[in-house]
Amino acid sequence: MRSHLLNDTTAESYRRSVTEGVERVASKLAATRRPFTGAGVEDIAPLIDRVDLDRPLGDTSAVLDELEDVYLRDAVYFHHPRYLGHLNCPVVIPAVLGEAVLSAVNSSLDTWDQSAGGTLIERRLIDWTAGRVGYGPSADGVFTSGGSQSNLQALLLAREEAKTEDLSKLRIFSSECSHFSVQKSAQLLGLGRSAVVSIPCDHDKRMQTVALARALERCAAEGNVPMAVVATAGTTDFGSLDPLPEIAELCAQYGAWMHVDAAYGCGLLVSPTRRHLLNGIEHADSVTVDYHKSFFQPVSSSAILVKDGSTLRHATYHADYLNPRRAAEERIPNQVDKSLQTTRRFDALKLWMTLRTMGADGVGSLFDEVCDLAAEGWRLLAADPRYDVVVEPTLSTLVFRFIPDAVTSPAEIDRANLHARKALFASGEAVVAGTKTGGRQYLKFTLLNPETTVSDIAAVLDLIAGHAEQYLGENLVHAAS
Ligand SMILES: Cc1ncc(COP(=O)(O)O)c(C=O)c1O
Repeated sequence: MRSHLLNDTTAESYRRSVTEGVERVASKLAATRRPFTGAGVEDIAPLIDRVDLDRPLGDTSAVLDELEDVYLRDAVYFHHPRYLGHLNCPVVIPAVLGEAVLSAVNSSLDTWDQSAGGTLIERRLIDWTAGRVGYGPSADGVFTSGGSQSNLQALLLAREEAKTEDLSKLRIFSSECSHFSVQKSAQLLGLGRSAVVSIPCDHDKRMQTVALARALERCAAEGNVPMAVVATAGTTDFGSLDPLPEIAELCAQYGAWMHVDAAYGCGLLVSPTRRHLLNGIEHADSVTVDYHKSFFQPVSSSAILVKDGSTLRHATYHADYLNPRRAAEERIPNQVDKSLQTTRRFDALKLWMTLRTMGADGVGSLFDEVCDLAAEGWRLLAADPRYDVVVEPTLSTLVFRFIPDAVTSPAEIDRANLHARKALFASGEAVVAGTKTGGRQYLKFTLLNPETTVSDIAAVLDLIAGHAEQYLGENLVHAAS
């Protein structure tokens, strides 16, 4: 069994094994003609249930053959131009290489004695990102597992900075289009769901600052404490950006912590043409960035940044076995003092490899391409009488709904759109997402692949219309008979 341990004596076997795996994946990616096979749970579950985990196959080739059946064949492929579903991006090769390196070396970014240079590489990337945000020298941050964790940590810091014993008085303000991790965080932080005050959005799905001002005023009048305002720079559904400068002014006026959730919009930090859309972000006390959304990084790769690095102390605990106070006094760098996690992946390496290979402009121009594509997609949808499209995109999502020619009830149109999404997924021809707006069922394209073309968008719209019309045709016939 020792032959499976990766060490000096098994380097050749490691090379062979990983190369064989890479070859399989490379062939798979090259031969994939659809983002998905359309397999259902009922097709995949028996394949996985059948595997006897107590009877190992022992041999890499056999394991990879089995993997083809249980996973690779029916996986969802994000690199395919007709994957238009969720906020999960196609990945760049330097980052995938970084992933292979980091798992083989297996650094853990909690302490210096488990990471050494890894700690300093992560710190350089935090400083680099903070510089792009517009923060000064006291900024700091740490890599996290994703936007949800970054938001949680930001709100933890905000709660501690509010310096209020009575948690029931704390209020968090975020727009009706903000991510659900704000509510989850409030719950986890002992504030309860009612602590989150939902602020309405305008027609463009941006937080209405007049409503925010009113809500902050009411909060003060009721003797409650405005703990934080969460501004979203790139809402999950619409890619809309809340008005950051106005929100910053209100936060300053009411003494609220300003958090910017730029999980999606962080790609603008490297955009050669659109960086100005984030103006005002530099006023935030904390910022969430998800490199695994708009920097083309594999999951996971995210960070929380703070304007004042000393606020990260609210996540600091000392353990004699790991990060004793003595180590801090000796100024041995560690990241565990800043993180909610202990053992932590060296995800920063992927971004490092990416920047060292492609450069920031390279990443930013890929993000620009998908924003340009969304603008073209919007023109297509706005001119198409079969569709109602919600807002002109700022980033790269399009929310729309098939509307039939014939007069039909809104509920029936909801069902037709739901059906079209499911039927499309089952066909494997394309993957699209769905959401609700104004209580009605809509469909969503999240465009993150620069390889997707306007013709792909047009073709998928035709497929959706076909499925929806077929559904309505069948249902109208049934209703009539
Ligand atoms: C605006 C926003 N914030 C936070 C998150 C959560 O990020 P993650 O899925 O990395 O936890 C998302 C995910 O889609 C998001 O869109």
